[in-house]
Amino acid sequence: MKFWKKLSHAEQDARVSEALSLNIDYKQKVSLGVPASRLDGNVFYEQAPFLKDAPLLRTYVANPNHIGCHTLGESELFFEGTQQLEREVIELLSVDVLFAEEDSCDGYVAAGGTEANIQAAWIYRNYFKKEYGASYSEIALIGSTDTHYSITKAANLLNIACYQVKVGNDDRVINEEHLNETITTAKEQGVKYFIAISNMGTTMFGSIDDPDVYANAFTKHEVPFKIHLDGAFGGFIYPVSSQDKHVSFYNKNVSSVTLDAHKMLQAPYGTGIFLCRKGLMQNVFTEEAQYVHGMDITLSGSRSGANAIAIWMILVTYGPHGWFEKINKLLNRTDWICKQLDARNISYFRHPKMNIVTIKADDIPHEAAHKHGLVPDTHGGDAHWFKIVVMDHVEVEHLEAFVNDLG
Ligand SMILES: Cc1ncc(COP(=O)(O)O)c(C=O)c1O
Repeated sequence: MKFWKKLSHAEQDARVSEALSLNIDYKQKVSLGVPASRLDGNVFYEQAPFLKDAPLLRTYVANPNHIGCHTLGESELFFEGTQQLEREVIELLSVDVLFAEEDSCDGYVAAGGTEANIQAAWIYRNYFKKEYGASYSEIALIGSTDTHYSITKAANLLNIACYQVKVGNDDRVINEEHLNETITTAKEQGVKYFIAISNMGTTMFGSIDDPDVYANAFTKHEVPFKIHLDGAFGGFIYPVSSQDKHVSFYNKNVSSVTLDAHKMLQAPYGTGIFLCRKGLMQNVFTEEAQYVHGMDITLSGSRSGANAIAIWMILVTYGPHGWFEKINKLLNRTDWICKQLDARNISYFRHPKMNIVTIKADDIPHEAAHKHGLVPDTHGGDAHWFKIVVMDHVEVEHLEAFVNDLG
């Protein structure tokens, strides 16, 4: 690990205090033009005694705005202290979790996985337009039927088509024959450039796509492509549990990655993370953003710097070994429930390095699934699958209570 280190609470406090001291202090230095201030002291009482031991809450009170992207070009000088911690988060995740070369990635803390996925699609749509003179009707998104619906949102917003590729019902693996057919159909419909969303942990199954299945198919069809990894759910588990470099920046076919700290990392909401290889973000530069210092190249404008600090604090509280242990604890619990299901001949899908177990709905009483809060694949009609996500609060006792209700 080059950057990921465990820090004590006192060390974290010192780093956050130093970062805040480098940001604008609205009390000491009145800035007449900034449309921002610290949190309203009449509501969020600044003298509360617990704040002195709570660097994250102090950051919320200071209310830094991390507008823009801080891994390239210039940024707003008012918040340079906390922006530095965001930069550290981006570099740590790119290099130590996702096997990128040092200083080879840009990134920022987005509102969530949806924004990070849309940011990727936006960058590539503009890239194909700029580099190849492509029209929007010649660019398409493509992903498996297990891909998160944010991709459909992206296609709708960006005015490009979206194609879905079938997966095997039992193994959730991309059907290569159908992928080939889909590319052929898309080409017949005028598509020349492809943006693939390859999953690092699908929402319903936790299944992992092989990005090279897409890369090989596009190469065979001789069409330019870009591949984005959606690790919104799996990005904080799979690289750690599997050390699979193939599904990471180590794979030259992968250009960008979504991670969500507000899922597995249990960070506050608003902590999606977008990472991409250097040289790509510039495709979404908004020249009209004249009043912002630095380049506006992110989908969201103003965003809370406290969210970056929250991610940084979680990462350095655990350190790489502590995080590995936590993931292993969850995987052990997942192994436990799988053994119980095996003993009862109940069918399910589970990727061995993931903490999601998705059970065939026909194999279990639906009352038990509802009673224990399993999530169905569809809320409207007949469920085909129910999933268990072994999060931190899901203990073996809870899983056992569910198993006992299976009859
Ligand atoms: C794989 C995947 N991608 C994207 C998202 C969207 O994330 P968010 O709700 O943070 O926008 C989710 C959410 O469940 C997801 O599981």
